[in-house]
Amino acid sequence: MRKVDIFDTTLRDGEQSAGVNLHPHEKLEIAIQLEKYGVDVMEAGFPASSYGDFQAVQQIARTIKKSRVVGLARSVKSDIDAVYEAVKDAKKNGVHVFLATSPIHMEYKLKKKPKEVVEAAVQAVEYAKQYFDHVQWSAEDATRSEWPFLAHIIEKVIDAGANVINLPDTVGYTTPLEYAQLITYIREHVPNIHKVKLSAHCHDDLGMAVSNSLAAIQSGVDQIEGTINGIGERAGNASLEEIIVALQIRKDVYEVETNIDLKQTVRTSNLVSKLTGMIVPQNKAVVGANAFAHESGIHQDGVLKNKSTYEVINPEMVGLHSNKMVLGKHSGSHAFKQRCEELGLFLSEEEGKKLFKAFKDLTVKKKEVTEDDIFALMMDSSVKGLFPHYRMETLQISYGSNIIPTTTIAIKTEDGEVLQESATGKGSVESVYNTISRILQKEISLLDYRIQSTTNGSDALAEVYVKINCEGEVSSGRGIEHDVLEASAKAYLDAVNRLSIKEKFSRYSAKGVEVG
Ligand code: KIV
Ligand code: ZN
Repeated sequence: MRKVDIFDTTLRDGEQSAGVNLHPHEKLEIAIQLEKYGVDVMEAGFPASSYGDFQAVQQIARTIKKSRVVGLARSVKSDIDAVYEAVKDAKKNGVHVFLATSPIHMEYKLKKKPKEVVEAAVQAVEYAKQYFDHVQWSAEDATRSEWPFLAHIIEKVIDAGANVINLPDTVGYTTPLEYAQLITYIREHVPNIHKVKLSAHCHDDLGMAVSNSLAAIQSGVDQIEGTINGIGERAGNASLEEIIVALQIRKDVYEVETNIDLKQTVRTSNLVSKLTGMIVPQNKAVVGANAFAHESGIHQDGVLKNKSTYEVINPEMVGLHSNKMVLGKHSGSHAFKQRCEELGLFLSEEEGKKLFKAFKDLTVKKKEVTEDDIFALMMDSSVKGLFPHYRMETLQISYGSNIIPTTTIAIKTEDGEVLQESATGKGSVESVYNTISRILQKEISLLDYRIQSTTNGSDALAEVYVKINCEGEVSSGRGIEHDVLEASAKAYLDAVNRLSIKEKFSRYSAKGVEVG
């Protein structure tokens, strides 16, 4: 069977989602899981965009062994240099260079004539080729480009040394039939096309990213690009897990195979959702909480008699298993460590100690601690000790009907100073947030607040996700606690702490040299 490469861009295009700001440590954790999932190529970031991203890509490149690690670059030398510095230590590396080819992008964005665009693309690929064996070139906005021009520029960049040609549907504009026809056209009109792999990259503005990607596979592309859970700018990218499961279930139609370990699907989706704060809709195909729930009596009856009456995907196939009770309050650190390892959690000694303490604290409040609880605790930034800038010491809230909610909070700074304040609010969450803003003496406004529970039951952990605007800078954070208000406070502080990390990183240039 023909093999299709899976190119994951969760850590680059996915991270461009509004309000997502991953710490380098979190990007590394996702990269490790993506490797377990079996992606052939992972686009770890855009190293020239910030020193934080440069560092994240570098750490990923030094850790990942099986997947190829690539970085994104505009068609400028300094971007390609930054990718080279970031990924040079990878076992398998590469660069992804792009340039827009549609009339609207060339005229208004690039302000270049088509001839100049061809020259710039060729120069960028030739330059990249000096450092890399693997050069992927993308014609940004390919689906709104003139097909003869596209064929012409692709021929030139292949001559310049590109190994993979990507045809992005940058604005999610194309349709399955049209995209398949474009791919066939390129195959038939680019004489040297046999020298490269062809790749498809779809966005979901019209809700067709997965269908368009599948049409591209039927049209013979060698590589499919997308993100886990379909996260990405605007309506997002094609959901890789949906494409991969469709290829498996409808092997009879697509007749291709991938390197993906399907059993890692749910774990990968959960990790990306928790770390990015992008909650997966309940009814989402493959990974939504209701994807395998049967509600109506007729369906339940059918499934009980024979699962395949109403279920085309076997939940075990994508790694969904019952949320069994794993440990209780009498469990010791040894059993806990062993269980974490079985769950595939990567813990340093320090993290292991912190996670065990968080687990013990939880067993006081919650009788049954499940795998999902442990997984949620692991996602808490404080367990990993990632953001030491501000730490909540104490939280006290008085709340009741007909009284004004009042909060008192003590926060410890990195220097050991304890800051304490009280404030009121219209509701208890607002009083918590007003108190934190007062302590930090910052103008902070709340842009988004979401809450969900980790498991079922009244003693479940609360997971809060917030997006804030702190003096013009947008940041997101999450907090996981048994108590809803404590989780809310932690999420707010987490968002502020992520900004202080960002500020620290922006003091460096892309090459890692301090500039100010
Ligand atoms: O959608 C797009 O065009 C991109 C390019 C950078 C490849 O993500
Ligand atoms: Zn894209």
